[in-house]
Amino acid sequence: MRKISFKLGLLFFVFVLGIETVLFASLYITLVHSRINEEFEQLLARGNSHRDVLEKNYDPSTLEHVTMMESEAETDVVITDDKGKILYFSDHILPAAQKIIKKANKHIPHDGMIVQKDWQKESHISTVSPIRIAGKIKGYVYMFQNTDSIQNMIDKLKHHFMMVGILSVFLTIITIALLSRIITIPLIRMKQATEKLSKGDFSVHLQVKGEDELAELGKAIQTLARDLEYLKKERNEFLASISHELRTPLTYVKGYADIARRPNMGEEERNRYLSIIYEEAEHMQKLVKDLFELAKMDQHSFQIHKELTNLCSFFKKLHDKMQPAFQAKKMSLVYYCDGSITVHIDQKRFEQVMMNLLDNALKYSDQGSIVSIDVRKEKHHIVIIVADEGRGIPKEDLPHIFERFYRVDKSRSRTSGGTGLGLAIVKEIVEAHGGAIYAASEYGKGTNMIITLPEG
Ligand SMILES: Nc1ncnc2c1ncn2[C@@H]1O[C@H](COP(=O)(O)OP(=O)(O)O)[C@@H](O)[C@H]1O
Ligand SMILES: [Mg+2]
Repeated sequence: MRKISFKLGLLFFVFVLGIETVLFASLYITLVHSRINEEFEQLLARGNSHRDVLEKNYDPSTLEHVTMMESEAETDVVITDDKGKILYFSDHILPAAQKIIKKANKHIPHDGMIVQKDWQKESHISTVSPIRIAGKIKGYVYMFQNTDSIQNMIDKLKHHFMMVGILSVFLTIITIALLSRIITIPLIRMKQATEKLSKGDFSVHLQVKGEDELAELGKAIQTLARDLEYLKKERNEFLASISHELRTPLTYVKGYADIARRPNMGEEERNRYLSIIYEEAEHMQKLVKDLFELAKMDQHSFQIHKELTNLCSFFKKLHDKMQPAFQAKKMSLVYYCDGSITVHIDQKRFEQVMMNLLDNALKYSDQGSIVSIDVRKEKHHIVIIVADEGRGIPKEDLPHIFERFYRVDKSRSRTSGGTGLGLAIVKEIVEAHGGAIYAASEYGKGTNMIITLPEG
């Protein structure tokens, strides 16, 4: 996994090296240029100053004096007459000088000019300054400088640049190697964390510092790990509950079947056992149906198909359907609604919701009590309340009744036939509609199930 830091580092290196090269090259070129210019200017200034002296005193002793001065210096001088004939010279400059003097053109400005500027190929660079006395050219002062010293200087400069260049490349490599590691280390850690997650190990601890994108990613992975762990735990608990829920009826079925098949069993007794077996099978069937219902909702494929529904006619149909069950228990079911209330719902699913709630109201109420359905339109919501006068739900159980398999009275569950999944299904469906459901209850007095649905 060093790959990403290597790639990143190489990319940085190529860019930085490119920038460094351009900068160094331009710096080098300007530096060389200005140093050479300086040399030429100095040479020209020296020639001009000799010329100035000679213009004041053009006599053999001054001429000699000038040549003598130059024989001590690094530079050399040649003085010619106006025709270019060499009069005086310092040192052994003659061969090079004759070549240049021959070539020199005669229109030379008074400030002088450069006559040999090729410092790379020639042995000397050279300038010329005309001596003008009373408006007439009297002669010329040629100045020469050996290019070896210039070459030397440039070589030194080159050497310095090489050293600094190598050093900066070296420093660049170290810096980039460090930086790309610092940048990629969190990425590598996150990759390791996700690998751990995919193997089912959720004990992921990423140290997340700062607020940047990498930190956000780290936090997201951490959250993902927590969620996955929770889901796994929940799934295991759910599976445990399912097997527990199935185990009890299966034990009954097995036990009663065993008794019922004994040979000396009376007809009536056997029928009693068989009907218990039938009831238990029915209960299991209901359980499996509810589980299947929940499983469908857990999948992302769960979709509701909303259509505009008039709630009054919806409740009327529901009332007609449920009325016989209520009558059988000598209870009454009433509904109140305002004919104008319409809402977008999935009618089949919502009927499932209401049937579950009414089934509970019926199951957990006594004879002679009334169950009512009330619909109200509030500011932005439609509120549906299913109220009963039954036994109510104890305060401590109220927060849990929407959980899967949760039943207030665990021991009675088998006889009352509940699976403990009804309200879990209800909640899923209501939430899929964008609504919410909660219960309000007073123990011993009755329960209100309150659904809110978004308007429209
Ligand atoms: N109207 C109600 N009155 C009293 N208790 C209720 C009512 N509705 C639900 N409960 C309690 O909530 C539990 C969960 O309800 P539900 O999910 O429908 O499961 P069940 O299959 O037991 O009906 C029930 O077992 C019951 O204890
Ligand atoms: Mg129920």
